[in-house]
Amino acid sequence: MRDVTTSFFDKKAHPLCLAPMVGLSHAVLRSIIRDYMPQGCETIWPTEMLNSRRIPTEILGKTSETFVLPVENNLVPQILGNQKQEIFESIVKLNQHWNLSGIDINMGCPVQKALKHNYGVSLMGDVNYAASVVKYAVEAANTLDKSIPISVKLRAVGSDKSLDELCFFIDQLADAGASWITLHPRTAEQKRRGQSDWNQIKYLKSRSLIPIIGNGDIQTADDVFTMISETNADKVMSGRALTARPWLMWQVGERMGLKNPVGRENEKAPQTPIEEGAEYGRMLLKFIYLAEKYYVNEIKQSENLILRKIQFFVKTNHVWMQFGNELTSVVNRSKTIQELKINVARFFEAEQAMFQRTELRQ
Ligand SMILES: Cc1cc2nc3c(=O)[nH]c(=O)nc-3n(C[C@H](O)[C@H](O)[C@H](O)COP(=O)(O)O)c2cc1C
Repeated sequence: MRDVTTSFFDKKAHPLCLAPMVGLSHAVLRSIIRDYMPQGCETIWPTEMLNSRRIPTEILGKTSETFVLPVENNLVPQILGNQKQEIFESIVKLNQHWNLSGIDINMGCPVQKALKHNYGVSLMGDVNYAASVVKYAVEAANTLDKSIPISVKLRAVGSDKSLDELCFFIDQLADAGASWITLHPRTAEQKRRGQSDWNQIKYLKSRSLIPIIGNGDIQTADDVFTMISETNADKVMSGRALTARPWLMWQVGERMGLKNPVGRENEKAPQTPIEEGAEYGRMLLKFIYLAEKYYVNEIKQSENLILRKIQFFVKTNHVWMQFGNELTSVVNRSKTIQELKINVARFFEAEQAMFQRTELRQ
């Protein structure tokens, strides 16, 4: 048996991974980012959050959320849930259909629906229940044909709780069988705005016996190395910035002396605002091409639905582009994917610049 947990965190693994994000962390984005991975490097790949109430009855692969390419490995899908049977059936089914390398449990989702059903971030309010959810997942994983780790993604504690309480919470999850923890240190009230509190990652890492992935505010290669040196995190997770700058994988690898991505052996990773602006244009056209290929042509989703998915992608990351508002209106006024391709290609005929950093508001 290959120890997946170790290989994700050993010296040969890439220090960065993509965050699970509804509407964004699907096969097309994973595929775009994979193409920028240094050769010979592994990392963890998420899915969008998948609801364990739905997975047991859903036909996997028929929606963009559940579409996985045959070449995808190191997949650690994220599930939302709190019921033993649903979690069991979901994990067994995901393992039958995908090449699973782990399961991540969402304990950070702050939307009303999650609070109502007592999953997502509300599990952080009940340590015993949260630990039993991990146990349900571990028990399900133990019935599979291979051993896979269970991880948990959490938010920061607010002023009502101390960091020691957070450490206690994590110890209970580790005792229940969690193999690593991802901490997004913004509180539920902050949602995804405001600064994330890296001190919480540092504190947790100094106390935890299992690996800690730090998340929040990672926009540049400098941020990746700064988070690691300031917090000692075992790995760094980036969400929104990796949608805008998927070559962050390459930039980080280049600084570490890793091999260039396949097909780009003799190039340097884009660095200047103009180089990054041009790369963004090429990346967006590829994103549109792949979304049409997989989601419209292969699994027959409606063109309109996929157009909206592409628009959401640009809505999330246009803030890194100097003329991002113009790009958004070009994308939003396109009525078909064909028209979108033409309009985007025309937009990037002019030189475009990309910002290193932006205020994260979405
Ligand atoms: C559109 C969107 C959807 C998200 N959906 C999820 C989700 O399904 N599960 C989850 O654990 N976090 C979700 N998040 C939070 C991200 O995983 C991440 O923790 C957060 O964006 C902070 O990282 P960043 O500052 O690098 O973007 C979502 C974030 C965004 C922007």
